[in-house]
Amino acid sequence: MAEMKTIGVVGGGQMGSGIAQLGVVHGFQVWLLDQDPQALARSADYIAASIRRLVSKRALSQAGGDDALRSLHCTSSLEELRSSDFVIEAIVESEDVKKQLFRDLDKIVKPSAVLASNTSSISITRLASATTRPHQVVGMHFMNPPPVMKLVEIIRGADTSDETFTITKTLAQRFGKTVVCSQDYSGFIINRILMPMINEAFHTLYTGVATKEDIDAGMKLGTNQPMGPLELADFIGLDVCLSIMRVLQAGLGDSKYAPCPLLVQYVDAGRLGRKRGIGVYDYRKVPELVKP
Ligand code: 3HC
Repeated sequence: MAEMKTIGVVGGGQMGSGIAQLGVVHGFQVWLLDQDPQALARSADYIAASIRRLVSKRALSQAGGDDALRSLHCTSSLEELRSSDFVIEAIVESEDVKKQLFRDLDKIVKPSAVLASNTSSISITRLASATTRPHQVVGMHFMNPPPVMKLVEIIRGADTSDETFTITKTLAQRFGKTVVCSQDYSGFIINRILMPMINEAFHTLYTGVATKEDIDAGMKLGTNQPMGPLELADFIGLDVCLSIMRVLQAGLGDSKYAPCPLLVQYVDAGRLGRKRGIGVYDYRKVPELVKP
């Protein structure tokens, strides 16, 4: 296995930024790509602020922080990823868009490079089929927020080789993560179990069994989770939760995965969670009363 030095990260959203941060903090050169220059600038600012926070908390030395910042290279050109040993994509959850990206990357990056997807539920086998190197395509599913969460779920497509799996596992471990391995079936491990729980929390609310506050407090304190399921759904994004439920329903063919009508209605109404300021909960600031 050749030494890995350079990582490409495609997508400057929350997941891509977190993954790029992990890369530079753990000694890699990282090329972070986003087609939107504004998104790229936001991502670079976010990573710089996170690294400064790590330095101020003494989780990273000043020299380590400076090195990490110097190792981050931002670009809007796919060509810049050609020297990458490993590329992780964290772009929009659309199979067509991801397949096109994999097709393009396959032509640009060196033959030895691994192509990984941070997809939450799209088939790795189908993404791999868009490339000429299906044995070097793998799922590398980070949890949100990537710098904090301890897990990486590795998904083996039908053709993923043992070597690709080992390279991916080694990289995740260098990021300080614990790895679990899933075969390539809808939802893999985490979302196959997590999303039905979130969906059931919506049913519990929808059928009037309890208030949102009691559902969340019950699960948070009663099962020792950092967030209740409805709060977590807002954190993940209700549109993401809905789309994963639909993938489970289509891929596993069981009506138990049908999305709760309340979840569907919230998404229809644009109540997508924290990112929109409103989901199950309302995060918008209530304007202060004007004092007389
Ligand atoms: N980047 C870096 N560090 C971060 C961060 C980020 N984005 N967000 C939080 N942190 C750090 C903080 O600096 C803080 O560090 P410190 O303790 O050393 O000071 C620590 O994390 C805790 O943060 P906060 O004090 O701000 O907030 P909380 O204690 O409430 O923790 C949380 C926030 C880590 C998000 C916690 O609520 C949590 O673990 N929630 C559950 C998250 C979860 O389940 N994620 C998985 C979702 S499923 C998924 O991602 C799969 C997908 O496919 C859907």
